[in-house]
Amino acid sequence: MAKLLLGVSGGIAAFKALEFVRLATERGHAVRVIQTHSSKRFVGTASFAALTGAPVLSGEFERDPLRGSFPGEPLGEHDPASHLALVGAADVFVIAPASANTIAKLANGLADNLLTNAALAARCPLIVAPAMNHRMFEHPATQANIALLRERGVTIIEPGTGRLATPGEHGIGRLAEPAELLAACEVALAPNSSWRGRGVLVTAGGTREPIDAVRHIANRSSGRMGFAIAEAALGRGAEVVVIAANVSLQRDPRIRYIDVESTEQLATACAAEAETADVLVMCAAVADLRPAAELNGKLSRGATDRLTLELEATPDILAGLAAARRNGQKLVGFAAEHGAQGIERAREKLQGKQVDMIVYNDISSEGIGFDSPDNEVTLITAKGEQHLPRAPKSTIAMQLIEAIEALQP
Ligand code: CTP
Repeated sequence: MAKLLLGVSGGIAAFKALEFVRLATERGHAVRVIQTHSSKRFVGTASFAALTGAPVLSGEFERDPLRGSFPGEPLGEHDPASHLALVGAADVFVIAPASANTIAKLANGLADNLLTNAALAARCPLIVAPAMNHRMFEHPATQANIALLRERGVTIIEPGTGRLATPGEHGIGRLAEPAELLAACEVALAPNSSWRGRGVLVTAGGTREPIDAVRHIANRSSGRMGFAIAEAALGRGAEVVVIAANVSLQRDPRIRYIDVESTEQLATACAAEAETADVLVMCAAVADLRPAAELNGKLSRGATDRLTLELEATPDILAGLAAARRNGQKLVGFAAEHGAQGIERAREKLQGKQVDMIVYNDISSEGIGFDSPDNEVTLITAKGEQHLPRAPKSTIAMQLIEAIEALQP
């Protein structure tokens, strides 16, 4: 458990900081929040206070009812002499969202509110997550300020690209996802993370097997779980490659993506990439059967009123990679099973595919699995089983990365 100090500045993305606090407290961290005055126009202090279990501070002259302590700590005997007690005690200080104005103040060493005072006084790792309109973010002044902060050792969490708060505006400037912010905090807390520099290969999405020039057999996998795992590994400092089978989700510029469609393409890409991967997480939903032969051109309705497709089994990519694995390489498979005895079938896959872990989920449960933001899984290893209760896929991904770390070499 660590002491995380969160600075929230004024921006529409302040609402995402609430989710960050929820995730961080769920992971057992103690969180205190400093808000700028303008951030309170977006999210009120009561929300942060309720989630952290501690009062929120904004001004340099405000008294801290908790006397500079974090939730779970004994209350200090005296009022701290300095308004900087909180940042003095924090293990990491993360500013999210960081507005253009706050970033400019940080770059210039201004200290006109508690947040900027705390940033100047911070001796712990400082993480800044910009969020703003794309024209403001791309402005040379903002870019220069960010470059300066980076030079001074501040960790910058790049904003994402996508739809922005202003209707019709699209571009770079969206605050990084809360799970990514938390992963960055955890890396800062453990700079010698065992993931640093390790090669992680994740497959995501679902394959498509062509029937004719326009039709295919597909499955419902969205790629969300695989992308979340890749982001969690990235957050821990790993070098991440994702083989994405038909995934149309937002991408992280720090991850290398290889796009594939069919099982055959996935198998080829896996064989090439597995050579340098230390960990392989086979999250993609791979077709078990494919049309034995692709029909030429587009099959027309007039041609026939009944059609029999002959299907053939696809190669088991994961089992093939396991058979050819390098010394020390870790392999994780998934088993999306339906209903009763699903867990037994998943246990059999651990042996059958000769992998280190099977992530089992019951896709007959409502609200988890395919295309949903949540999941609930059981991690099966030779040593035992660990149930991860229903949570956002980003949280499950972080827990999975920890469990992989705990696998013996
Ligand atoms: N898998 C694979 N190649 C395949 C089929 C599956 O690499 N042709 C991988 C999946 O990515 C997953 C694991 O194997 O990590 C289990 O997939 P699943 O479809 O549950 O198992 P199957 O071996 O196909 O067995 P069954 O469909 O009979 O349950």
